Amino acid sequence: MSKYIIKGGEKLSGEVNISGSKNASLPILAASILNRKKVKLYNVPDISDVRTTCEILESLGCKIEKINNVLIIDSEKMENTVIPDDLMRKLRSSVILAGAILARFKKVSFSLPGGCDIGTRPIDLHLKNFKKIGIKISENSRYIECICDKIESKTIELDFPSVGATENLILASIYGNHEIIINNAAMEPEIVDLANFLNKLGAKIYGAGTNIIKVLGVKKLKELASYTIMPDRIEAGTFLVAGAITKGSIKINKVNTIHLGPVISKLKKCGCEILTDNNCMYINGNKNTTAVDIKTMPYPGFPTDLQPIFSTYLTICKGTSIVTENIFENRFKFMQEIKRMGAKVKFESNSIIIKGIKKLHSANLECTDLRGGAAMVLAALNSDGVSEISKLDYLFRGYENFDIKLKKLGANITREEN
Ligand code: EPZ
Repeated sequence: MSKYIIKGGEKLSGEVNISGSKNASLPILAASILNRKKVKLYNVPDISDVRTTCEILESLGCKIEKINNVLIIDSEKMENTVIPDDLMRKLRSSVILAGAILARFKKVSFSLPGGCDIGTRPIDLHLKNFKKIGIKISENSRYIECICDKIESKTIELDFPSVGATENLILASIYGNHEIIINNAAMEPEIVDLANFLNKLGAKIYGAGTNIIKVLGVKKLKELASYTIMPDRIEAGTFLVAGAITKGSIKINKVNTIHLGPVISKLKKCGCEILTDNNCMYINGNKNTTAVDIKTMPYPGFPTDLQPIFSTYLTICKGTSIVTENIFENRFKFMQEIKRMGAKVKFESNSIIIKGIKKLHSANLECTDLRGGAAMVLAALNSDGVSEISKLDYLFRGYENFDIKLKKLGANITREEN
């Protein structure tokens, strides 16, 4: 198992380049099997969630070549339509492969994806709406089997703007002779990236990024396409807060600042100085900062994935902050660990009340989940003394070269394998 040894207290400074988006890469990797030939993807982050998704695609018969952050996926010989149980458990979001396999082979089987550290993560919205567009679903205690001869034209209303359910419905309805309209669709930028990729292949998807998405089924897709994955807005937000929590000044390159509106405005409200250009931003966190309240919402609201990271910053902002988590039911577990560094936090139902202190003190912490783990690293960077952060496998799921990037910004961080 790996752990970080972090000696806190350094003000970060310098420049960092953001990697490609994890949450755009995963659905686009699923979509890469749809043209039944080759797809070349650029700016794919080298993270374990991407490696696991590639493992699943290879287990289904795809050939994948990886050259640094470029992936070439050849799905011509793909024939297996059963997603392996052990890999399904490793990566919950692999349920996204179901829609793509179904579109290509008209059938797919997969095991119920387990819950995870931030909530039960059900897939009822995926399945309920699959049925509405003509997909036959049979479930036993272990496996779900979907079969579909023909997708039927339908207008569906999502009970909740689920990112995964929106993506799965788009993927499942790529081929055919139908019109699907998804009302109350998720509007996240990763949905736009998926639609841009598929439309480049010749799909007909309209309205991605709005809450009404229309998919017109097509007969064929182009046999070869290349695509560059969008920047990771959650990694970019993580480095913004790294600059704030260490009272440093850093320039963040290769970002789309439009994706970070609510995060930038909240950091400015705290008192940070932030300048933005269209693909880079600069933060000066060396200010007297004050508390703000946060409520997570579906995009374009404050992103739930940055809640753990921003909440940790608020533990050292003067005053009282209330953070309300409206997306996942168990996304404050990480804060029990941050409290071991002296944070003053009270837990209510889906909120926490934070009383800002001057500085955190060092402690040995264990990552509880991906974004909670990143929050612990930032807390250690703020604190005096030496902290150890273990169970880093969570963190390696979604951050490429995290310690290398932080070290380049002046952080005193080393990675130890034991
Ligand atoms: C995606 O997860 C992201 N993951 C998550 O990022 C992100 O937090 C989430 O969207 C919200 O933005 C990927 O894109 C791989 P949802 P997803 O379906 O699709 C409930 C990270 O840290 N729900 O929008 O699973 C669900 O339980 C990860 O990078 C149902 O009840 O999110 C949750 O409470 C974490 N039934 C809420 O909706 C369903 O059928 C949002 O889930 C589906 C979802």
